[in-house]
Amino acid sequence: MASDIKASIGHLCQNEESFRLLVESVEDYAIYMLDIQGLVVSWNAGAERIKGYGAQDIIGRHFSCFFTAEAIEEKLPELELQQAASEGRFEGEGWRVRADGSRFWANVTVTALRNECGELRGFAKVTRDVTERKQAEAALRQANEVLELRVQERTARLKNVIHKLKAEIVFRQEVEMQLRESEERLRGIFDQAAVGISQVATDGRWLLVNQRLCDIVGYSREEMLASRFQDITHPDDLEADLHSKGQMLAGNLLNYSMEKRYIRKNGSVVWATLTVSLVRRPSGEPKYFISVVEDITERKQAEEALRQKTSQLEKTLHELRSTQAQLVHSEKMSGLGQLVAGIAHEINNPIGFIFGNLDHAGYYMHDMLELLKMYQFHYPQPLPEIQKACEEIDIEFIRADAPKLLASMKQGADRIRQIVLSLRNFSRHDEAELKSVNIHEGIESALLILQHRLQPQANWSGIEVVKNFGKLPKVQCYAGSLNQVFMNILTNAIEALENWGKKRIITIRTFLREKTGEESNSQVIISIKDTGQGMSEDVLKRLFDPFFTTKPVGSGTGLGLSISHQIVVEQHGGQISCISEPGKGAEFVIEIPLQPCGLSTSV
Ligand SMILES: Nc1ncnc2c1ncn2[C@@H]1O[C@H](COP(=O)(O)OP(=O)(O)O)[C@@H](O)[C@H]1O
Ligand SMILES: [Mg+2]
Repeated sequence: MASDIKASIGHLCQNEESFRLLVESVEDYAIYMLDIQGLVVSWNAGAERIKGYGAQDIIGRHFSCFFTAEAIEEKLPELELQQAASEGRFEGEGWRVRADGSRFWANVTVTALRNECGELRGFAKVTRDVTERKQAEAALRQANEVLELRVQERTARLKNVIHKLKAEIVFRQEVEMQLRESEERLRGIFDQAAVGISQVATDGRWLLVNQRLCDIVGYSREEMLASRFQDITHPDDLEADLHSKGQMLAGNLLNYSMEKRYIRKNGSVVWATLTVSLVRRPSGEPKYFISVVEDITERKQAEEALRQKTSQLEKTLHELRSTQAQLVHSEKMSGLGQLVAGIAHEINNPIGFIFGNLDHAGYYMHDMLELLKMYQFHYPQPLPEIQKACEEIDIEFIRADAPKLLASMKQGADRIRQIVLSLRNFSRHDEAELKSVNIHEGIESALLILQHRLQPQANWSGIEVVKNFGKLPKVQCYAGSLNQVFMNILTNAIEALENWGKKRIITIRTFLREKTGEESNSQVIISIKDTGQGMSEDVLKRLFDPFFTTKPVGSGTGLGLSISHQIVVEQHGGQISCISEPGKGAEFVIEIPLQPCGLSTSV
């Protein structure tokens, strides 16, 4: 059988001796032949090199020894031959095993060999070791796989990123929508707010104004945005506003509120409450002011009306209290005046008798003493009884003292007369109408009545009164009332000096202040000054208030000066004022016009 094959192959190759030689010398390809059973019948150099078998070892063996166990199991060798037999050719790649058991990747072509009659004679097999290519392919594939993997990874990552981005975009869109909504809401609030709201640059330019602010100041939005807040601020309020803004810019103030006025376009004034805060950049640099303006004109008007009403009420109350005080006092004074006038009148008659008869008593006594002298001359030796009586009564002393006694009685009576006159002068109850009087007389009578409080006493040196009277014409006045004024002021001066350890002097100065050309405007000035404890500014302010007193309960009524004020100012159209400092005494200055005009005749 084998010789058969050999013969046929030999025959096959006979004519192609040179070609056979060529085949045998090919080293890169294993080229060998199989008989129809698959036994190796020829072996070239390439086959030896690639498969590791020597020709003597392999020829005659079945070619399945080149296959792996698994391939044999799968009957691949038989399938190869069957396909080559049926189709003329088989081509494929697969693992093959070398003689040493190592594997290599082979590219295999099996060609069926037939004779002229078409009978199958065997197979020619060409095998190439393409392990390197296979490895390169594998490496490539691997590289490809790695690449693919990386691409996949990348893609996954990109997908992830895209997913995130999409989510982010959705989120942003939502946020944006919310922002837009909130901005719309805010703009709505800004535009429809019941208060004026604005953004103001640090130099005062309006950056943003709402409708309400435009309405408050009466300018259009465009006009506003072309101007500064200084342009429409009332000049009297500008400085305070600028000052506060300066303080804010300097960082001394976080925000401020003030009431201020704006000048509207039509020139009218609008009162507003302004509240300002400052917005700064992250660097701390001032960016702009936010100001809120509220129209308070109505409130201001109401306040003003209330204030006027209150002040009117206060005035009315003051008038009422002063009238009440006046009534109380005039009631008292009229009672006192009546009493004083009554006493004065009652004393006036008896003292008139005494005063009128004292002269006659003097003449009588003088005559009688002359007669006694004549008796003594003509009867130098009287009877012892008469002589004794003369010695007992000390006739010589009587003769010397009697005229003195009479003179002193006359002086006393004269003083009583003066006092009575002063009392009448002071009370002037009968003189309630305007009369021309000598002011000095009034002052003198007040001093006379207060004499007992001025004179020195056992352990008190008294008060010195310095009179510095100018030449005064008679003054048209209500004498009784004016005397009350002198009395009140002098009483206060005495009270201020009574417990004053230092020098105690009351200086009364009068003079005429003439207004040239206008006789009717001339004034009589009476200044009553003491060196007492003086008074504080606080007391000075309330001096003429009814019922204002610093004296202990029971000593002061607080009415003296308020009544004096009323008498001088309202009754006589004059003025009364006081200059004083604590510890430096007090000076009251009364100004009475010579010719009172249009005066009330009440009180
Ligand atoms: N010459 C004065 N020196 C110091 N204080 C005086 C003098 N005159 C008036 N005052 C102050 O003015 C107040 C009011 O005086 P006045 O109206 O006469 O009321 P009164 O004498 O009853 O207190 C006195 O309580 C006193 O404090
Ligand atoms: Mg008084």
